[in-house]
Amino acid sequence: MGCKTPRMTTETINATTSGTWTLGDLPVNRLGFGAMRLTANADGSPGDRDRAVAVLRRAVELGVNHIDTAAFYFSSLRSANELINTALAPYPDGLVIATKVWAGRDPSGDWRWASPAELRGQVEENLRQLGRDHLDLVNLRVPRSGQTGSIAEHFGALAELRQAGLVRHLGVSNVSPAQLAEAREIAPVVCVQNACTIGAREQLEFVGACGEQGVAYVPFFAIAGRGREAGATGTEHDPVLTVARAHGVSPAQVRVAWTLGLGAHVLAIPGTGDPVHLEENVAAGALRLTEEDMALLSSVPHV
Ligand SMILES: NC(=O)c1ccc[n+]([C@@H]2O[C@H](COP(=O)([O-])OP(=O)(O)OC[C@H]3O[C@@H](n4cnc5c(N)ncnc54)[C@H](OP(=O)(O)O)[C@@H]3O)[C@@H](O)[C@H]2O)c1
Repeated sequence: MGCKTPRMTTETINATTSGTWTLGDLPVNRLGFGAMRLTANADGSPGDRDRAVAVLRRAVELGVNHIDTAAFYFSSLRSANELINTALAPYPDGLVIATKVWAGRDPSGDWRWASPAELRGQVEENLRQLGRDHLDLVNLRVPRSGQTGSIAEHFGALAELRQAGLVRHLGVSNVSPAQLAEAREIAPVVCVQNACTIGAREQLEFVGACGEQGVAYVPFFAIAGRGREAGATGTEHDPVLTVARAHGVSPAQVRVAWTLGLGAHVLAIPGTGDPVHLEENVAAGALRLTEEDMALLSSVPHV
């Protein structure tokens, strides 16, 4: 185990160091950004608006050109899509914004799941909030309760919106390999967005299979791990701490680098509302873990 990574300074931190992948016909740096954490603090109170706008602008300044969002990312006072629109419109060339439908929340915040016919309304809601006339990438976000069932009806409806020009590329989220195969029979799929973190061994075969099919794999909860929506909580595993010490980086950076080490088709979307964490996460795009590091990290218990 050794430090194979050049020291990054704020002048050299850039998402381009993570390499690139093409989503359909849209090239992106492999180190992207997840917008879910922008709208609320850890205690659920609304996040600071100016700070969220500054984080988004800084992300783009640091070379991030793949931002993951959803109309259902909102707190009582903040909407991720509105913050993205305010911070970044008119959008720079080459910025890819990915969003999700099927999951949704009513104005009170309660979760609801759209029927196939309602997907158009969800796509249009994202268009309005982001201020766009088409969406770059829309993931069909499958409910946990539907993870073994057919997604054909919903994915077919989304494919029709792609045909109509409202959406450029399609992805699937929270899916099984069988559901990916089912979707690919209907229309091209450019990415799978699933929960995956160090220790999530059940995902690794699927990560590899996506690569073989030319489909990007976009892990979420890479840093949050077992904390999921609650965020990165609890004590870190010893192997993660050992690798972090060896490279002189933080455990969160090891977690981001681990995902990127799984394959050239893996795209990181770490989520943060903290400008310091943002810089750390982008810097992790340059971190190259050794085979020895990856082997040690594979000993982390199943989550
Ligand atoms: N498809 C789906 O069903 C689905 C589900 C969940 C999320 N997502 C997407 O995936 C993205 C990533 O997931 P996520 O945001 O839940 O989890 P994550 O990126 O794994 O971790 C975010 C958590 O880690 C903290 N964090 C971030 N960077 C850190 C750093 N450098 N050092 C220490 N702590 C750090 C954040 O707090 P701070 O804000 O304090 O930094 C937050 O608590 C989301 O933003 C969202 O776009 C998709």
